[in-house]
Amino acid sequence: MSETKKVALRSAEWFGTQDKNGFMYRSWMKNQGIPDHEFQGKPIIGICNTWSELTPCNAHFRQLAEHVKRGILEAGGFPVEFPVFSNGESNLRPTAMLTRNLASMDVEESIRGNPMDAVVLLVGCDKTTPALLMGAASVDIPTIVVSGGPMLNGKLDGKNIGSGTAVWQLHEQVKAGTLTMHQFMAAESGHSRSAGTCNTMGTASTMACMAEALGTSLPHNAAIPAVDSRRYILAHMSGIRIVEMVWEELKLSKVLKRENFENAIRVNAAIGGSTNAVIHLKAIAGRIGVELELEDWTRVGRGTPTIVDLMPSGRFLMEEFYYAGGLPGAIRRLGDGGLLPHPDALTVNGKSLWENCREAPVYDDEVIRPLAKPLLADGGICILRGNLAPRGAVLKPSAATPALMQHRGRAVVFEDFEHYKSRIVDPELEVDASSILVMKNCGPKGYPGMAEVGNMGLPPKLLAQGVTDMVRISDARMSGTAYGTVVLHVAPEAMAGGPLGIVRDGDWISLDCAGGALNLEISEAEMARRLAARAETAVPEVRSGYQKLYIDHVLQADQGCDFDFLVGSRGSAVPKHSH
Ligand code: FES
Ligand code: MG
Repeated sequence: MSETKKVALRSAEWFGTQDKNGFMYRSWMKNQGIPDHEFQGKPIIGICNTWSELTPCNAHFRQLAEHVKRGILEAGGFPVEFPVFSNGESNLRPTAMLTRNLASMDVEESIRGNPMDAVVLLVGCDKTTPALLMGAASVDIPTIVVSGGPMLNGKLDGKNIGSGTAVWQLHEQVKAGTLTMHQFMAAESGHSRSAGTCNTMGTASTMACMAEALGTSLPHNAAIPAVDSRRYILAHMSGIRIVEMVWEELKLSKVLKRENFENAIRVNAAIGGSTNAVIHLKAIAGRIGVELELEDWTRVGRGTPTIVDLMPSGRFLMEEFYYAGGLPGAIRRLGDGGLLPHPDALTVNGKSLWENCREAPVYDDEVIRPLAKPLLADGGICILRGNLAPRGAVLKPSAATPALMQHRGRAVVFEDFEHYKSRIVDPELEVDASSILVMKNCGPKGYPGMAEVGNMGLPPKLLAQGVTDMVRISDARMSGTAYGTVVLHVAPEAMAGGPLGIVRDGDWISLDCAGGALNLEISEAEMARRLAARAETAVPEVRSGYQKLYIDHVLQADQGCDFDFLVGSRGSAVPKHSH
């Protein structure tokens, strides 16, 4: 390691003095068998690990960490691995989103309070990527993201099936009577065949692409399969690079500029990325002091063709995406077409995004399609406003049915998720394919945690008639693996007094994606009357514990659902001594 510049190491505030404090900090560390010379001016690199056997998508991370360590050691740094709260999407109830901010607090305090000069973030499952980036952004030391990589393709009857997406599809087929329970159970085993995250362009893959598009990871981090040896090489190279970043003083705020977020928004449209990215990017931007508005998604994202043909919008899976050229290939297609807003945006390897991607090959035009043959001509996330969503709502065009994106229909209203579940199966339910399913009280405060229940399954009697999509509206989120003409993130949510709370059965609602409008067709006077007549918005019965903190402080979806008191960066100043 060539130390070209003398940089004052943050870790020297712990290990750099020959006094009582230095004794204390070093001596206890030495119980791990660390020789004295490791404390003599080497960069100490934290490896922030979300490993957990309860987060199956991140269960291979101890091995991943070992490869990061090899790189750190090779470059002359000293690695220190530490665990943080791991919120896995598949097991955690009521929703992993409830603890995204909790994890971010854990990350922030762990980094700031400990002797480290830089940090490697090991992320994978959906919420782990934003949580760790949010926490690291609030400290702002040199930071690099290493993702766990996607699972291999799922298999059923010799065909590929996609994580999550298959669950929604197959379950509807069971309900419609076209798939046997035996096949359904066979799919369960073939669906998750290797280590790694969901292999569709769900939220995990989307956020891995966002981390790469933002410039916070090395190129190709997003798509290399979890079990591909090249994933471990990337981890090793990230370990080397993070040590160099210490000497270059390349802290996170030098990378995460407004330009990088605009690139990410454009890339999200090109990959057909998850609606969850709208919330997570806003939250990350908030931590690093970048102003991001919902309208930025319209301004920067709309008009961008979706060229990555992955489920749930398209045909393929992350394995094929990597073999076809991965995210650098897709970004090259954008850039060649003049569609990369900020080619010069800096990335963690010290080069610009365009320098990293301008020569990236594309090996398969079916998977990474040419701009002239897109999966969808306009794939940017659609931001909606109107009297039903004064502070915005979102819809993902690439997952929707084009004919339903301009639609008027009568509301069938569910007061909450439980009401939905009991009512949707009622054979007497007055509903037809033109109805609009409206669900309340599933937002950040209402659920609480804004669960991924917005893609309400259709009424069984309509499924049996062959109906495959309907307009659905809620203050909930939807899994990035899900699909349908689904309006999400309605803000303010019903529980926070939003007009979603006063919709009644039979009300007419109009959805106009092209015009960005979502309206309840009642007069202003009627709207005012209903809002006034509404009982004081009932807050859920939570009087203590983390859920109380959450409900009291969570911001609405348009503000990224961060806690009000966590927005912003609090810096990396070394806290007072502990003794
Ligand atoms: Fe973890 Fe999908 S459940 S990535
Ligand atoms: Mg998900």
